[in-house]
Amino acid sequence: MSKRDSTSKESGVSGLIAAINHFLTSREETIPGIKDVLANISSSVVANNLCESGQAVSSNQQEMLQTAISNIEDKSLQPIRDLLKSAEDELVWRQDDSTYYSADADLGEGYKASNLHTLLIAPANAKYYHPDFTLGFFLLGPFTLYRDHFHLAPELYVNLSPVSGWRLDGGEWRDYGAGSLIWNGPNEVHATRSYDHPFFSIFSWVRATKSLCKLAEKPDWEKLEKDLHDKKSASIGGRDRLPNTMPDAMPDAVIE
Ligand SMILES: [Fe+2]
Repeated sequence: MSKRDSTSKESGVSGLIAAINHFLTSREETIPGIKDVLANISSSVVANNLCESGQAVSSNQQEMLQTAISNIEDKSLQPIRDLLKSAEDELVWRQDDSTYYSADADLGEGYKASNLHTLLIAPANAKYYHPDFTLGFFLLGPFTLYRDHFHLAPELYVNLSPVSGWRLDGGEWRDYGAGSLIWNGPNEVHATRSYDHPFFSIFSWVRATKSLCKLAEKPDWEKLEKDLHDKKSASIGGRDRLPNTMPDAMPDAVIE
């Protein structure tokens, strides 16, 4: 795929990739790995053996997805949001069914029930082919912990949600805003959590895409998940009463 500009009149998946390419090019100097992402986008080609199959997406997941897309408000991300809408009919969304983890991995009920992804470029199941690179979108439901994990594949996230929490290398939780980038080097441990809106991001595995993810067990998973569950219950029970602030149990609400 040659480098193209999102200002051209492209639409669908090709236009969406061009918009992501344009966004990443503008941030090329911030993280060394972005150059590799851009090089891999450029060398991807139209897939010959596209497999369109995916699990049926539930109405709840569909609703979450629409909410996540409409939550993309940052100006720098608007071309991606608009082209994502225009490509909706071409995208196949899938739940992680042990593709990325071993079948016995204890990912937690929240993650298992709400994760969804779609691939734009990949070795399989995407409109564009690259033998060892993936580019796609990833969604998690509100009030969900994606437990600490690691993988050999270097990974880039572009956060599309207004806010999401990240714990990198087992450090303190920090909140990141729309358009922020997260780079996870090979086997660097990372965890994510969503608050009162879905977590939505672009993700990319730069190489080693056949490597499995592994969980890095932490003693506070249960507490974190209970806190999120309690906040979810409070949100459902008093949606109109809650102030629009981060809950007490979510420290480090400084948005990067
Ligand atoms: Fe990851």
